Amino acid sequence: MPPVIAIDGPSASGKGTVAQRVAHALGFHYLDSGALYRGVALAAAKSGTKLIAGTALERLAATMDIAFSGDIIYLNQMIVTDEIRSEAISEAASMVGAIASVRLALIARQRAFRQPPGLVADGRDMGSTIFPAAGLKIYLTADAQERASRRCKQLIAKGLSANMSTLLQDILARDERDSVRAAAPLQKCKDAMLLDTTNLSIDAAVEQVLARYAAVKQVP
Ligand code: C5P
Repeated sequence: MPPVIAIDGPSASGKGTVAQRVAHALGFHYLDSGALYRGVALAAAKSGTKLIAGTALERLAATMDIAFSGDIIYLNQMIVTDEIRSEAISEAASMVGAIASVRLALIARQRAFRQPPGLVADGRDMGSTIFPAAGLKIYLTADAQERASRRCKQLIAKGLSANMSTLLQDILARDERDSVRAAAPLQKCKDAMLLDTTNLSIDAAVEQVLARYAAVKQVP
């Protein structure tokens, strides 16, 4: 089976950027599993589907037409790259992520990304549930205040409005929901390496992941 590097962590911890850069450095595929939950949330919003367990939401999860091309995300052949990252969809995705039957419907889609020569997957349960035998597991986190400030800068850079205290509240609420839910909660696996990026640049975080991967690859 192609190797997998699982990178889990809370919202806005920088795991997406780090995972993408690591995948690029190794020539591996990249799975942004959060985009699948966001895709379900957006498809539900567009079709007026309620965010509750029941066949409609699971059907969307199993059948939505979502595609990735570099940084661009398509849902039903429409570009949704920015829309999918809005605060409203972030909130809805976190609600969708708490529904066990939706998680189940997304398992096979996520595992299908494991293709040669390897995969870097980021999310909440990559190491615990989707790829429990991943050769390297990283738990990437940062202070909530620092994460809110990064998210604020990202939004402003995109020309969108942002309010630090609202962002911080949203992040804390999502952390809470992602961590206390019964289905595949956000957690640091025992065998995951903790990487706190509060005072670490993206470059340094990428280097640490690559160094750790080079070390574990040597283990037969
Ligand atoms: O990673 P991202 O912030 O894009 O994920 C959006 C939401 O999707 C999270 O708040 C979480 O509730 C859910 N999610 C999840 N499991 C994953 C990835 C994301 O529950 N593996």
